Amino acid sequence: MGETMNFVKVAKVSEVPAGTMKHVEAGGKELCIVNAGGRFSVIGDRCGHENARLSKGTLTGTIVTCPMHSSKFDVTTGKKLSDPILEMGGLGGMLSGCPGNVKKAMTQMFQGIAENQRLIRTYDQPVYEVKADGNDLLVNLEGAK
Ligand code: FES
Repeated sequence: MGETMNFVKVAKVSEVPAGTMKHVEAGGKELCIVNAGGRFSVIGDRCGHENARLSKGTLTGTIVTCPMHSSKFDVTTGKKLSDPILEMGGLGGMLSGCPGNVKKAMTQMFQGIAENQRLIRTYDQPVYEVKADGNDLLVNLEGAK
């Protein structure tokens, strides 16, 4: 548990209804406030894969799915539950009308991107202590676990 003096007001309770998420910025951090069935959690709002805003993803219970490549995280622990989905589907169809040399160059380019994508690790999200004080939501910015 962190010191209470590190808690800063980041939003109003009424701004984050049950089942929703809200992006806020405080102390130079991007935060995702989550209200999962009346219980508040705060995690970093930069996906541990490629920094997409998790608050723009979908929330199912206490699990958030990233809007970019569908990694899943538990919002109460910040733990990654599943890795990104990185298939480049439909490439063959997309290039079917292209001349052979263009098709070859494009395929090589996409393969290079896919190879680099596979090397990118996906990390757990930082989790911050949060508490309600009346209609204020307070977050301990020093409390990332
Ligand atoms: S940026 Fe979140 S899964 Fe890729």
